[in-house]
Amino acid sequence: MAKMHIKLKLNNRDVETLAEPRMLLIHLLREQLGVTGPHVGCDTSHCGACTVDLNGKSVKSCTVFAGQANGATVMTIEGMAAADGTLHVLQEAFREHHGLQCGFCTPGMITRAYRLLQENPNPSESDIRFGISGNLCRCTGYQNIVKAIRAAADRMASVKEAAA
Ligand code: FES
Ligand code: FES
Repeated sequence: MAKMHIKLKLNNRDVETLAEPRMLLIHLLREQLGVTGPHVGCDTSHCGACTVDLNGKSVKSCTVFAGQANGATVMTIEGMAAADGTLHVLQEAFREHHGLQCGFCTPGMITRAYRLLQENPNPSESDIRFGISGNLCRCTGYQNIVKAIRAAADRMASVKEAAA
């Protein structure tokens, strides 16, 4: 099958590659580009472990063809920490508030939480629960995930306030 030429900005890097038109974005990321943060947790588009940020929207990368990311900006969990390794506020909050156990859902969950806080910087508990409803966690019972996202929202607001 003829391969497509795909160019994208991935975690602030320009990437060019070839992929079969039927290849899914999750497989392009993990198997071809070595970006293994997004996971495959189901084959029914339910779990959200594969969540990435695509052109400013959370998407399940198992439901998107690699070719649809041509020309796009994609961020995965690998793109969240600063270049010097300083963790993103959300990563710190998940660590501090025990927002993970096995960690399988965590890259997708944090990537989703990132976009949720861009869309709504001051979410209520129910906004957070609704906002992450496409991401399943089999371990934590969600309570500490919700706490971590709320704590990150507070931290981001105080940083913004201090800078104003
Ligand atoms: S792998 Fe489960 S939703 Fe994508
Ligand atoms: S921490 Fe194990 S699935 Fe969420």
